[in-house]
Formats: sequence, structure tokens, C-alpha cells
Amino acid sequence: MRILVTGGTGYIGSHTVVELMEAGHDVIILDNLSNSNEAVVDRIGKITGSRPVFYNLDMRDGEALTKLFENERPEGIIHFAGLKAVGESVAKPLMYYDNNIGGTVNLLKTMEKFGCKNIIFSSSATVYGDPEHVPVTEDCPKGSCTNPYGWTKSMIEQILMDLCIADKEWNVVLLRYFNPIGAHRSGTIGENPNGIPNNLMPYITQVAVGKLDHLNVFGNGYDTHDGTGVRDYIHVVDLAKGHVKALVKLAPGSGLNIYNLGTGKGYSVLDIVKNFEEASGVNIPYEIKEPRAGDIATIYADPSKAEKELGWKAEFGIKEMCEDSWRWQKMNPNGY
Ligand code: NAD
Ligand code: WQD
Repeated sequence: MRILVTGGTGYIGSHTVVELMEAGHDVIILDNLSNSNEAVVDRIGKITGSRPVFYNLDMRDGEALTKLFENERPEGIIHFAGLKAVGESVAKPLMYYDNNIGGTVNLLKTMEKFGCKNIIFSSSATVYGDPEHVPVTEDCPKGSCTNPYGWTKSMIEQILMDLCIADKEWNVVLLRYFNPIGAHRSGTIGENPNGIPNNLMPYITQVAVGKLDHLNVFGNGYDTHDGTGVRDYIHVVDLAKGHVKALVKLAPGSGLNIYNLGTGKGYSVLDIVKNFEEASGVNIPYEIKEPRAGDIATIYADPSKAEKELGWKAEFGIKEMCEDSWRWQKMNPNGY
């Protein structure tokens, strides 16, 4: 299939491009490099043996997007492009609504103009809010988000659902990711946050490599086995493979489909510290701090729907996730 990957030089996008190319698909990448680096395109070329076509453009630029569609005629879109820093979204909500929602509406309008009505969207477990039950199934009601970033995901889901109701030619897959970590086994591509990382694993790897002094653990009074927050960490390569499998649901008449992409297992912050220390042989000093605003105690997926309907299941365990995060950080201490 001829696939346009928006946000394809980003963390999850780059790993997905590799899996798509290795599965024999034609890939075109669009990214404005606001949170990534063009060097990623060469790194993908190094892994796959061929450099994908790359457009440095902003999805909010309608004219540029139209030209891309005229030149490339994609058959399906995998839509990763978006801003994702939770704290920044609280400080700059308009920037998030404009970029994530405005950009997506612009993309969808261009797709409609060219009769390309097939899209896989990067949604998030954040749309469940504090879930009614765990493990979370896809029919668990969506919750109240605690930040504008989360609302952009929830609202874009709604926009895509409305499109499917209005026009039966649309085929939409909403993939709700849990917590992606890890990196390509080669250590060639990986997560490259700007400044001090917000997320747990890149923070730990930066402590391990000596860039940060210690980890701050946000709260140890939650109702979990050791008091620290429990999440469903998933290897980014497993997540990427989930997108390749989800392409079957872009076949004509598929309509709307929603899947959790997680492992079904929950690990606490201290479990992750321990597993990382074992995998890397490096000690991670930590200090217990106040809980972070908006955090919940526990969330993990019921991923059985994706297994049943897509034949997809996460294969890597926490050991590989930690080893691969560490390999990437060690080989690229300053990112790309
Ligand atoms: P990322 O920041 O590494 O990748 C996103 C890419 O989108 C970046 O390369 C950025 O430059 C690009 N981009 C942003 N705005 C753009 C615009 N207007 N035009 C063109 N390109 C633009 O993030 P990621 O971790 O790879 O996440 C990919 C997607 O998955 C995002 O939509 C994110 O919200 C979603 N998601 C991520 C996680 C996570 O924990 N990483 C979890 C759930 C969902
Ligand atoms: C994991 C656990 C923290 C950092 C976020 C977004 C979510 C999704 C994924 C996109 C929590 C604890 C963290 C640190 C810590 N993104 N922690 N010290 O919060 O589950 O999800 O990223 O959609 O929308 O909210 O991930 O990695 O930030 O935190 O103790 O320095 O680690 O409190 O329990 P989270 P995370």
C-alpha cells in the first residue's frame, strides 16, 4: 500500500516507517521537524536499505499538503503528527488545539478532496481518564481528560467518528496507545526528547548516562503494590507492528475500528527502576516526591480485541524494553 506517514520522523512514527518498509509498503513521510530531526530519515535508510521520500512541511499548510497529495497520491494515512507534552499543553492550550486539531482537520479536508478516506490515528489511553475498571477494554466509557493534550486526542477521535457516520466511504482506525518505551534493536533510532524529559523511561536513561543526577518518583502513596503509579509499558517496535497489522481495517467497508495497543501487564515506577537496573547494570538513584498533578494510580490495557481481530500481540517483555532503551541512549547520549 502507498502510505503517507505524518509525524514520520518522530519517535513512534520512525519505528513504524521501518516496519512498514520491511513489510513491503511504499512510504512517504511528512513532518515539520518541530519535535524531530531530519537525520532520522537517513537512519531509517540505514536500517531498511532505502531512504523514504520526505516532505518537510506543516500539516496546517493546506497548499503544501495539496501539492504533496498531487505528487504522491497516497492510498492511506497513518497520522502521528502532533504535539504531545502534557505540561506544555496546560500552559499553551491554543498552540495545542491549533496544531493538533487544526492540523488534523486540514489533513482530513485534503484527504477528502483527493478521495483518500483511509486513516489510522494515534490516540492514547489518556482518553479513558481515570478508568472505571482495569484492565481497560475499548468499550470502557471515555473519561474526563486532565489536560488540553488529552482533550485534543479525545476530540480528534470524535471528529473521526462523526466523519464515519456522515460518509460510509471513510475507514478509520483509532489506536489507543499505552506507554511506549524501548527503541529499535540496532540502537539506530529511538526517543529523543527536547530538554528535560517528561516521561519516565527517557528520564531514567538520562540518569543512567549521567546527564541527570537522580530520578524523582512522583508519589508513593497510591493504592498499588508498592505505592507508586502503575502503567502498561509497551515496546515501541511492538506498537509499530500493530500499525502494520491495522492496515487490514482500511479495506473498503471497514468503517470505524478502535483498538488498545498495550501488553496487558502493569508495572510500577519502582518495578521499572529495578528492571532497568538489572538490564543495564547501572544504579538509578531516586527520591520520592509529591504526586504529579493529573496522574492516576493505575491503568493497563485489555489488548485482546487487537489479538482477536488483527492477529496482533505484543511480543517483547520488560527486559527487552529496558535493554533497548538503554542501548539507544548509550549509543546516542546526545540524541540525533
Ligand atoms: P513525537 O513528538 O516524537 O512525534 C510527533 C511528530 O509530529 C514530530 O516529529 C513532530 O515534529 C511532528 N509534528 C508535530 N506537529 C506537526 C505539524 N503541525 N505538521 C507536521 N508535523 C508535525 O511523538 P511520538 O511519541 O512519536 O508520538 C506520535 C503520536 O502518538 C502523537 O500524536 C502522540 O500524541 C501520540 N501518542 C504518543 C504517546 C507517547 O507516549 N509517546 C502515547 C500515546 C499517543
Ligand atoms: C509514567 C509513571 C509517573 C516521570 C503520559 C501522558 C499520556 C501518554 C503517555 C501520550 C507515572 C511516573 C514519570 C518521572 C515519575 N502520552 N514518573 N517520575 O503519565 O502514564 O502518560 O505519557 O498520549 O497521555 O500523560 O507517562 O512516563 O510520564 O509516567 O515518577 O520523572 O511514571 O508519575 O506514574 P504517563 P509518564
